[in-house]
Amino acid sequence: MSMDLIIEAKDVAKWYGAFQVLKDINLTVRKGERIVVCGPSGSGKSTLIRCFNRLEAHQKGEITVNGITLHDRMRNVAEVRKNVGMVFQHFNLFPHMTVLMNCMVGPMWIKGASAVEAKKIALRFLERVRIPEQANKYPVQLSGGQQQRVAIARSLCMEPAVMLFDEPTSALDPEMVSEVLDTMTSLARDGMTMVCVTHEMGFARAVADRVIFMNSGQIVEEGNPEAFFTNPQHDRTKLFLSQILKH
Ligand SMILES: Nc1ncnc2c1ncn2[C@@H]1O[C@H](COP(=O)(O)OP(=O)(O)O)[C@@H](O)[C@H]1O
Ligand SMILES: [Mg+2]
Repeated sequence: MSMDLIIEAKDVAKWYGAFQVLKDINLTVRKGERIVVCGPSGSGKSTLIRCFNRLEAHQKGEITVNGITLHDRMRNVAEVRKNVGMVFQHFNLFPHMTVLMNCMVGPMWIKGASAVEAKKIALRFLERVRIPEQANKYPVQLSGGQQQRVAIARSLCMEPAVMLFDEPTSALDPEMVSEVLDTMTSLARDGMTMVCVTHEMGFARAVADRVIFMNSGQIVEEGNPEAFFTNPQHDRTKLFLSQILKH
C-alpha cells in the first residue's frame, strides 16, 4: 500500500444474514482527499463507513486503513480507531460528562495522556470548532449545532488520520446546519482527510475532491463534484439528484 493511501477498500462485500448490504466496493482515499458519499436511504452508506473503523465487519475483500489491514480476528481494533475519527448524525456525546470531559476522555483513556495534557488538547480543539466558552456545560445545555461541533472537537482530540462523517447535519434544525458545515469546510481547508456521507450539495461542491454515489450496496458512479452534479451518467444518479434537488 502506497504511503499516502489512508483508506483502501478492495472488492469489499458484506452481508446481514442473507441480505447483501455491500457489493464489490473498490475505493481508495489518499491523504488530504475529501470524499463525499451520497445515495438513497438504505443504499449502504453508513455500513460502508462503519466498516472503515470496524464498527462493522466486512466478510469479503480487503480494507486497509492507515496501513492496518482489517480482518476477521484482528486484535488491533483500538489501534484502527485511534486513527479514525467518526462523527454521527446524533452526536453521541457522553451526557453525564461536561463538554470538556467529553473531549478529554479519548486522549486519557486511549492515548494515556495525563489530565493536564488532555485538558490542553481538549481546549485547543474546542477553540478549533469555536466553542471554548461552552467547555464546562453538559451536552443537554447546548444547541444541536453546538453539540455536533463538540462531537467534531472530541474526534479531533485523537488527532486522527481521517475523519468519517455520517450525515452530520441531517438531525439538525435548519438554522444550525451552516455552523457545522462551516466547521467541516474549515477542516477540509486545513487539509484533513475526510469521508463525508452527506446530501449537502453546497458543501460537496465547495470541498469535495470526489463525490461517490451508492445504490443498493454498490458504488454506481463517482466523479468530481462539477461533473457529478451537472452531468451524471447513470439513470439512478439522475433520479436521485432530481429528488434531492426538489428540496
Ligand atoms: N444491523 C443491521 N442488521 C440488518 N440489516 C441492517 C443493519 N444495519 C443496516 N441494515 C440494512 O442494510 C441496508 C443499508 O443500511 P445503511 O448502511 O444504514 O444505509 P444508508 O446509510 O445508506 O441509509 C438497509 O437496508 C438497512 O436496513
Ligand atoms: Mg445512513
